[in-house]
Amino acid sequence: MTDTITIRRPDDWHVHLRDGAMLEAVALFTARQFARAIVMPNLSPPVTSAASAAAYRDRIMAALPAGSGFTPLMTCYLTDDADADDMARGHAEGIFTAAKLYPANATTNSAHGVTDVAHIMPVLERMQEIGMPLLVHGEVTDGDIDIFDREAVFIDRVMTKLIRSLPELKVVFEHITTAQAVQFVDSTGPNIAATITPHHLHINRNAMFAGGIRPHAYCLPVAKRELHRLALRKAATSGSSKYFLGTDSAPHEVHAKESACGCAGIFNAPYALESYAAVFDEEGALDRLEGFASEHGPKFYGLPCNEGRVSLERRPAIIPENIDAAGSPLVPFHGGATLNWQIVGS
Ligand code: DOR
Ligand code: ZN
Repeated sequence: MTDTITIRRPDDWHVHLRDGAMLEAVALFTARQFARAIVMPNLSPPVTSAASAAAYRDRIMAALPAGSGFTPLMTCYLTDDADADDMARGHAEGIFTAAKLYPANATTNSAHGVTDVAHIMPVLERMQEIGMPLLVHGEVTDGDIDIFDREAVFIDRVMTKLIRSLPELKVVFEHITTAQAVQFVDSTGPNIAATITPHHLHINRNAMFAGGIRPHAYCLPVAKRELHRLALRKAATSGSSKYFLGTDSAPHEVHAKESACGCAGIFNAPYALESYAAVFDEEGALDRLEGFASEHGPKFYGLPCNEGRVSLERRPAIIPENIDAAGSPLVPFHGGATLNWQIVGS
């Protein structure tokens, strides 16, 4: 049995680092594990311009100790009246790595999102032209669609048409949660990829109702049935370069989670790599962790792989129930549970 593995330093291709005190509290958890991260733009107000992204990038770097070696990769929040010229300029200047499509009202701070993809076709055409990846939160928002079907319906109603009209556009289907999404991604060309979170590999929808309502297992898209979790595990560990690591770590203060109307989001940054390692181990695929965590993402984004290395060893670790984040506790994913992998040296 393999007891130690060493892989290239990984990247997180989808993370929420927030702003202000929360940014100060959480940035280091991501920077400790990952060399780079695609930073989500759903701040309030959202990051819609190159100038605001550059300023946000500066705030992220200021929240980290000097010499952290971490590079935040910024994204542009698309709205119905997104400015294609500013976005393209930001991309050319290395400020924007990608742009994010939130369907309006799909999730946290998405009220300014896109009401109809038709409204942003010129922006998407521009992205296709300049090779700028589109990151998609793939859920319809119609109240008459069952919440567990929103991703599958999005594929039928939006994704299929989108890739048909823009066949060369690079698209990352973010945090996929269904067998339908896996089937869709598998059936498309190399310009379509997907990120998979640790939580969607570990939990199914029962976790939200285990003995009572469990707000810390609630995220969007919500976890689905077991058959979907198994399809995601198969995809992540398949070795296909279409799938890569994206934690969707999304911290919220405890009172905002444990509320009559709790926020969506799972804070998994502190033990993300250990959490993925446990899945790959359980699937007998530790030899494929490096591809998923450290190679497929850079290849898709056209970036070099990291040169550094990180080692994990098989050693049980009890994950704390709370993590102090600058005086205010946050509940991490796996809090109170044991993970069988630890980063060496941590
Ligand atoms: O669970 C989620 N939390 N899903 C999202 O899409 C957004 C995120 C957040 O920002 O809290
Ligand atoms: Zn997210």
